[in-house]
Amino acid sequence: DGRPLVKYDGVWYPLVIRPLLSIQKYFKAKDSDIILTSFPKSGTTWLKALTFSIVNRNDLNISLLTSNNPHELVPFLEFDLYLHQENPDLQHISCPRIFSTHIPFKSLPESIRESECKVIYICRNPLDQFISHLHFFLENTKTNYSRPLFELDEYFGMYCQGIHPFGPICDHMLGYWDGHLENLNKVLFLKYEDLKQDTAFHIKKIAGFLGYPFSVEEEKQGVIEEISRLCSFENLKNLEVNKTGHIGVVKKSSFFRKGEVGDWTNYLTPAMAERFENMMESKFEGSGLMFNI
Ligand code: A3P
Repeated sequence: DGRPLVKYDGVWYPLVIRPLLSIQKYFKAKDSDIILTSFPKSGTTWLKALTFSIVNRNDLNISLLTSNNPHELVPFLEFDLYLHQENPDLQHISCPRIFSTHIPFKSLPESIRESECKVIYICRNPLDQFISHLHFFLENTKTNYSRPLFELDEYFGMYCQGIHPFGPICDHMLGYWDGHLENLNKVLFLKYEDLKQDTAFHIKKIAGFLGYPFSVEEEKQGVIEEISRLCSFENLKNLEVNKTGHIGVVKKSSFFRKGEVGDWTNYLTPAMAERFENMMESKFEGSGLMFNI
């Protein structure tokens, strides 16, 4: 989209190097913290809404989801919180603190890896991520976009080379995958497509992982289904709070586009998909991680 990226420690960052260094230096994770991690456009907003609802379900706070965008309830370490110059360690926020970040696993502040805090990672079919990201930037930049295919081709070429905010995407996924395999109780690894397929199952899984399991009584009362409905794409997209206004320079509405699996087929050719698939297969070989494109 024309904005500069900076390569640091093998990762392409969208000019968040100063916040990154600041967070690495000052952020002190607490054992009760919950850190939601993702590659951009992989379902971060959805995961924020779900986690916030699960953790706050016995509290009136859950209704905050209807009056706030999920990104206002769960701030990004590198975009939102770095501005807390007076309290850079963020100890003043009440517990359990829920934060999010796109920072790769290997670059997380040490205290996140060393404390008992929980990390949830969500990823997505990289081709859907690519298309979602393209729309997100078109929506948030002033250009009137109707670019011919060769430019899409050019963007895609860069994507395959890893030149993308927080890219390369396969390294990002592998980093969290390895972190998950190293400590299953510490890092939960989720896929957007699985969440779509069985949301209720994953709400239970997230709740159990975080130490907030549902009681039999809650299950009977339909609490899981209610959380699923509250956080659904249709519900969030149609909330007044998500239709207008901005978070920083980003339109709140741009976090809710189609919410579908496989939208890439409307934009990318089979040859492009094959190119990415081959690259991904060789990257993931032997890791146990895979994506059906
Ligand atoms: P699309 O552009 O394919 O529609 P992120 O939250 O990481 O920025 O990712 C945004 C993507 O997640 C967008 O995908 C958006 O529409 C989708 N999304 C947002 N909220 C969702 C929800 N509640 N359920 C499913 N998908 C959602």
